[in-house]
Amino acid sequence: MIQRCAACGAEYAESDPRAECPCGGLLDIEHPAPSLTGGELRALFDSRLGEPTGALASGVWRFREIVHPAAGNDVVTWPEGNTPLLSREVVSRWAACPGLLLKHEGQNPTGSFKDRGMTVAVTQARRLGASAVACATTGNTGASLAAYAAIAGIAGLVLVPRGGVAAGKLAQVMAYGARTLVVRGDFDACLRLAREVAEELGVYLLNSINPFRVEGQKTIVLELLQQLRWDPPAWIVVPAGNLGNTAAFGKALREARAFGLVSRVPRLAAVQAEGAAPFAQSFRDGFRTRHPVTAETVASAIRIGDPASFDRGVRAIRETNGVVTTVSDAEIMEAKAVIDAAGVGCEPASAASVAGVRRLVREGVIWADEQVAAVLTGHLLKDPGIVTWYHVDAQPRPPLANPPIEIEARVSEVSRLLKKER
Ligand code: F0G
Repeated sequence: MIQRCAACGAEYAESDPRAECPCGGLLDIEHPAPSLTGGELRALFDSRLGEPTGALASGVWRFREIVHPAAGNDVVTWPEGNTPLLSREVVSRWAACPGLLLKHEGQNPTGSFKDRGMTVAVTQARRLGASAVACATTGNTGASLAAYAAIAGIAGLVLVPRGGVAAGKLAQVMAYGARTLVVRGDFDACLRLAREVAEELGVYLLNSINPFRVEGQKTIVLELLQQLRWDPPAWIVVPAGNLGNTAAFGKALREARAFGLVSRVPRLAAVQAEGAAPFAQSFRDGFRTRHPVTAETVASAIRIGDPASFDRGVRAIRETNGVVTTVSDAEIMEAKAVIDAAGVGCEPASAASVAGVRRLVREGVIWADEQVAAVLTGHLLKDPGIVTWYHVDAQPRPPLANPPIEIEARVSEVSRLLKKER
């Protein structure tokens, strides 16, 4: 296992701590073909299902041979992963997609998919003897970094855009004990600063440009394929911000085919918010140019104007014959209200995937009889502020608003309301 620059091809040892190649390219992990392939590798992974304790109980480390085979006993695990794959009729009906499945990554230990990448990257930080780790974040990466740094006993530094982080995420960073630095700027400014800090101060960078993060996030797809008994869906749909997940999904599918885990791969659909859609704009011109924007959307997790994993994302979409689409903030909030009221719940950015499915079905890109796995990336409680806004404050009142009702402490008041409900 080595690291290789995706731009110039330079090779680095697995233990090289640099965040990127001097040429400016990002590093990718290159795995030799594992000693087992195809059915034998599937059987190995399947034999670990239900493992009660230890690293193999993790939905990330179950796949360790193609994630981080050198990690040995250094693994820093919660454990994470093992998230449910749900089918909910009301959500399928809303999206006009009967074969819709929801892979709920909000069921990870800190409430988002970031834990899958963080367990691997913090494991690597421990192996390298890092004294401090850092990230720029719209919130979830920071929450996850803070928890895993606490487990590993490494100092954590979290750079957040001022005013741009949902309450649940900020609460987690503070509570888990990382140092929160509120930067006067947006996420893109935070990431520029984090890269400089890593370069100049020797702090280990845990943003998704870190190739070990990508290795962990591949397991969203590996676990999904395993849950479908290695029979791939037609589509995997994912919200896209900094493109770490899009990149990881592309790599997971490339390797799953190369190692014989599956014989065909799903198409990827990356979904951006209309006000934060640099990748979708580039997709429209055949990825000829980048279109950095000043991002604005209700979905603060994906309020990102200049995605760091752009090139990796392009590769993922091209290799899977994928598409990139956009959805409006109103569509995101309606999808979220439907997912929430189904008893599932997710944060706004996550709902972009389901809103994207509805749009792609309407446009005839996804066919009604296809099986589609949409990834819900974060938990409902990550962003309580937006829930209150939607159900209580938004004007005009949204169709699915469900505000609380204040009453006197009398049974008659409750019974009057009950009659109305029936
Ligand atoms: N959904 C959620 C809930 C997220 O937190 C993020 C990214 C995304 C989707 C987009 O994923 O960046 O891999 O394309 N959150 C990062 C963070 C940026 O700092 O927590 P991506």
